[in-house]
Amino acid sequence: MLVRINETYDEVSKEGARLVAELVRRKPNCVLGFATGSTPLGMYKELIRMHKQEGLDFSKVTTFNLDEYVGLPPEHDQSYHYFMWENLFKRINVNQRFVYIPMGMAADVEQFCEWYEAQIVKAGGIDLQILGIGANGHIAFNEPGSSLGSRTRIKTLTGSTREANARFFTNQDQVPKYAITMGVGTIMDAKTLLLLASGEGKAAAIQATCEGPITAMWPATIVQMHRQATVIVDKPAASKLTLKY
Ligand code: GLP
Repeated sequence: MLVRINETYDEVSKEGARLVAELVRRKPNCVLGFATGSTPLGMYKELIRMHKQEGLDFSKVTTFNLDEYVGLPPEHDQSYHYFMWENLFKRINVNQRFVYIPMGMAADVEQFCEWYEAQIVKAGGIDLQILGIGANGHIAFNEPGSSLGSRTRIKTLTGSTREANARFFTNQDQVPKYAITMGVGTIMDAKTLLLLASGEGKAAAIQATCEGPITAMWPATIVQMHRQATVIVDKPAASKLTLKY
């Protein structure tokens, strides 16, 4: 695991975008795994800038998103479909046919999850998976206690995650109780992982991820087992690390 500590969130975003852009230039038909949440927003802004000013070409890229709330239609302004189109996809030249995001309205969730896994395999696997991290150590919506070998499935969100995400809804009751999420095992199958974190609120989770024992109670700790994982953090998110990086 490569741990990169930057001074600011802005630098985290730029470094993350540089790594994504390098891959897109080297392999124009690469498969990217995208994440939602506030953390990758700065990186997405930088990728949009690179597309507009430097001609970074996403036309052949296939994308898979990590997760989606169950019960929210794609046009709901808090759905992860909406988030991705608003904050990235409609501002770059991604081909809609190559965009995959879990369907929160799937009639048969189990069947959908199997189909989603099969599409990832059919696309040749994910070359680079972008990850944020929850304050409780979740990745995607793999909450504490998630099997470290899990695949795409429905998960119940914890109270703390629903509380953390309530800021985007009118009140906490509006936050969906379930999500479809790639499993920890699905994420670990990606050829490269890029985990971004910013702010003191993530410091404990980052300490556990980089230095703690591997445990399902902090799902992100499994990243230690990945052969090619980079963790990019700012100073506040790195503040509880004890080793020198
Ligand atoms: C959400 C998402 C995760 C994200 C995390 C952190 O619930 N499902 O993919 O990494 O929480 O979000 P943020 O970056 O806003 O702190």
